[in-house]
Amino acid sequence: MFDGQKFLVYNKTNMKTKVMKASIRALVVFGKIIRRGEIAAFPTETVYGLGGDATNSFAVEKIFKAKGRPSDNPLIVHLGSKFRIKKYVETISPLEREIIKKFMPGPISLVLKKNELISSLVTAGGNTVAIRIPECKLARRLINFSRRPICAPSANTSKRPSPTVAAHVLEDLNGKIPLIVDGGQTEVGIESTVVKVQDGKVYILRPGKISKEDFEKELNVEVIEKAGGAVVESPGVKYAHYMPKCRMVLAGENDFEKVKNFYNSAESSGKSVVIFCKNSDLEKFKGLNCVGLGEDSVDASHNLFKALRDYEENDLIIALKITNGTMAAGLYNRMSKAAKGEEI
Ligand code: TXA
Ligand code: MG
Repeated sequence: MFDGQKFLVYNKTNMKTKVMKASIRALVVFGKIIRRGEIAAFPTETVYGLGGDATNSFAVEKIFKAKGRPSDNPLIVHLGSKFRIKKYVETISPLEREIIKKFMPGPISLVLKKNELISSLVTAGGNTVAIRIPECKLARRLINFSRRPICAPSANTSKRPSPTVAAHVLEDLNGKIPLIVDGGQTEVGIESTVVKVQDGKVYILRPGKISKEDFEKELNVEVIEKAGGAVVESPGVKYAHYMPKCRMVLAGENDFEKVKNFYNSAESSGKSVVIFCKNSDLEKFKGLNCVGLGEDSVDASHNLFKALRDYEENDLIIALKITNGTMAAGLYNRMSKAAKGEEI
């Protein structure tokens, strides 16, 4: 049937993934890829995102497919400037306007009523859209070069720890996407705070660097933390997430003896174990395999996802909670999910 016929089959799921350092050339290539309806990974100040044109359903589908993400989990739309927000939403209330003015650009995503320009695949069929203006200048320039609103989840395979360096993206998505723009290690290390306004109150749907106290101080309104509560309003928080390949357990901040006992009994049954703790507590675990995540919750958030990937070849990670510093809520949320809620 094919006698004498020449043909070529492109295997889209096994394309070559190019990693480009941040440069003018990378901006141009990123812009072209996005306008063509393809997808590409890029750095933000929180974690790396996997971006596509939020107005193009084909591009959005590719994002869900590359990540293996459930289609009922909506994506955040990233814009290069706060002046573009009104183009994609129905209305902005005075309190929402205040949040935009005080916190954007920054590590925050604000849930607003969407208009018809945003593909309903982005919002999982819902009538709201989470909007984010990254603080990272490179991210904003990439978005501006594409001349499109960019919907972007974290650039990891679903359920894996979010990527904070380009190598993590490559590890998960090599051969599945055409481009990763490498901007070095991300600063914040955990994803943006997701918030919405309802009845004059601010609801935190996912904790992040911008905390309850930050909103209370700047806005003088009631702020309610909903993440992890009975009602799940940010669909992503109901899924298993951030999981290293090995078992992980959480321990109290000062449970040094308990941690040592747990370590020793796991080790004596032939398991390789590692402890994550504050730098200043490393001396408490002399002679044991342990890693300092930093001095407080801000440092530890910066380092957590990288440490999860660096040490997941062990059989067990024991992580001590870190409650000092302004990012304790965000850090605890990620650590607890990585450990599937298991505490000793
Ligand atoms: O920092 C970040 O937010 C990163 C970078 C790339 O910007 N992005 C990120 O996206 O973390 P993703 O898809 O991994 O997480 C988005 C979270 C999910 O929990 C999702 O359910 C929630 O935001 N979300 C998105 N749209 C929403 C909406 N309209 N209403 C409520 N929650 C929403
Ligand atoms: Mg994610």
